[in-house]
Amino acid sequence: MFITLTLIIIGNVRCQQQLMNTKTAAGSISSPSTAKPIKTTKNIRRVTFPDITKLYSIGKSVQGRELWVISVTSHNSSTDPDTDLKPNVKYVANMHANEAIGREMVLHLLAHLVNHSNKSTNVKNLLRHTRIHLMPSMNPDGFEKAIEGKCQSGPGRHNAANVDLNRNFPDRFFKSNVAEQPETAAIRKWIHEKQFALSLNIHGGALVVNYPFDGSQNHSESHIEKSPDHDTFVHLALALAKRHPKLRQKVQCIQEEWFENGITNGNAWYPIRGSMQDYNYINGGCMELTFEISCCKYPPKSELVSFWNDNKIPLLTFLTEVHKGVKGRIYDSNTEHRIANANITILGREMTFHSDSNGRFWRILLPGDYVLVVKANGYQTLQKQFTVSEHKITVINVYMAPIVRHSRSHNLQQQKYLIKKGQNYDELLMGQSAALTMVKNGTNSQQRIQLQIVPLIMLVWAILTIVNKNC
Ligand SMILES: *[C@@H]1O[C@H](CO)[C@@H](O)[C@H](O)[C@H]1NC(C)=O
Ligand SMILES: *[C@@H]1O[C@H](CO)[C@@H](O)[C@H](O)[C@H]1NC(C)=O
Ligand SMILES: *[C@@H]1O[C@H](CO)[C@@H](O)[C@H](O)[C@H]1NC(C)=O
Ligand SMILES: *[C@@H]1O[C@H](CO)[C@@H](O)[C@H](O)[C@H]1NC(C)=O
Ligand SMILES: *[C@@H]1O[C@H](CO)[C@@H](O)[C@H](O)[C@H]1NC(C)=O
Ligand SMILES: *[C@@H]1O[C@H](CO)[C@@H](O)[C@H](O)[C@H]1NC(C)=O
Repeated sequence: MFITLTLIIIGNVRCQQQLMNTKTAAGSISSPSTAKPIKTTKNIRRVTFPDITKLYSIGKSVQGRELWVISVTSHNSSTDPDTDLKPNVKYVANMHANEAIGREMVLHLLAHLVNHSNKSTNVKNLLRHTRIHLMPSMNPDGFEKAIEGKCQSGPGRHNAANVDLNRNFPDRFFKSNVAEQPETAAIRKWIHEKQFALSLNIHGGALVVNYPFDGSQNHSESHIEKSPDHDTFVHLALALAKRHPKLRQKVQCIQEEWFENGITNGNAWYPIRGSMQDYNYINGGCMELTFEISCCKYPPKSELVSFWNDNKIPLLTFLTEVHKGVKGRIYDSNTEHRIANANITILGREMTFHSDSNGRFWRILLPGDYVLVVKANGYQTLQKQFTVSEHKITVINVYMAPIVRHSRSHNLQQQKYLIKKGQNYDELLMGQSAALTMVKNGTNSQQRIQLQIVPLIMLVWAILTIVNKNC
């Protein structure tokens, strides 16, 4: 027991030293001549519980520093029935690297999770059912310049190419002329690979939870820009704000800045273009919120304990929010193969998300009745009703019928065949609308003629029969 604890302590200390502190460790990563970072990485791997954690890098910063992520989960073997639909959640901190408090909180969270992985039932359950990906710093180059104790401005907000990373994501209305930064590209690739269901972007300099949209068509105007999932986002924002003592008490960082319930719509606070949370939601199928956890951007380390006390419960409970709503798998009804990259929407919420490379999907929703609409190339569009309840995530498997569409003439033959068998042509058209809208007017009239031929033949046959009988 004592040895285990010692390992925990060493593990945490090493991990924190390597990832946060240090300008030395981080600096040496950029110079390939030194063997030190590799050694340190090995140490992390060895001491920080290989059963439940994994250290990986999603790419490199402008100056070549690794963009480290630690994932934490238990029961990760492919034979565990729970593993297949286990959702991915991520916490990204230090995007504005002078807002350093987030990186410390993410590492404290990591330490808390491994410390309690065998002790607390809540943490055990959380790790069993969730894959948690923690990125202490999205902007390690900026952090090299950041200065402890600088509360307002101070160097390090931007990356090494002097770009604000929270303006560098593709925007739905505006095309930026700033080149995509390696940090942005790495995050985008990661989002599309992992198909996160929930995410937090942790900042400092204010005390508020900010939810999408951050931007609108009219960039100059600040107003509440509601997303189709406004209800869910408000719920998620409150899940954090209600549990954070300072947000709950509406502590104001700036005299005239006041947030009702400690939350705000991004565009209502101040509109921005190219934000990470909007990109996550619109393009990544992931509900991301921005959590501003400190008036002072880079508070002195003596205050870390008090920050952790404020943030521990909100950061832990927010992770459990990923287990609300719906998740499932999309199959080909003939082959039972999974369908990757299907377009999925919840009826009435015009925001498409996609099944992952293994045909799985996740969506956070509040309790209620919904309709899932699934579209995939080569399949009939499918709608499926489902109910979301308060305490248990709904799991649904969707089976999609392939559209048989080899060639135009094949199609026509198939339709003729079905018409002969007495099927309603209109019904057929409806069912295959995805494929048949592609059939041009010309073809349609051809088909209409064929449709008319059938009764015509029957009429001739009837007349002939009558004539025969009369003879
Ligand atoms: C969990 O399993 C997946 C798939 O095999 C693997 O990619 C990931 O690294 C594992 N995570 C941990 C924390 O072991
Ligand atoms: C983790 O456990 C160690 C050893 O008990 C303790 O020193 C440390 O404060 C704990 N950290 C967290 C964040 O719980
Ligand atoms: C938790 O317990 C298991 C089995 O008793 C052990 O293998 C593992 O090392 C422990 N993990 C931690 C983090 O203490
Ligand atoms: C954008 O917002 C500004 C400020 O409210 C307003 O003056 C302007 O007319 C708006 N433009 C459009 C195209 O809506
Ligand atoms: C899926 O959505 C994309 C745009 O997001 C669109 O280009 C594509 O045609 C859609 N696929 C189907 C089968 O509807
Ligand atoms: C089909 O033809 C009708 C009448 O000629 C026309 O109104 C309609 O726009 C055409 N539709 C397509 C998809 O070309």
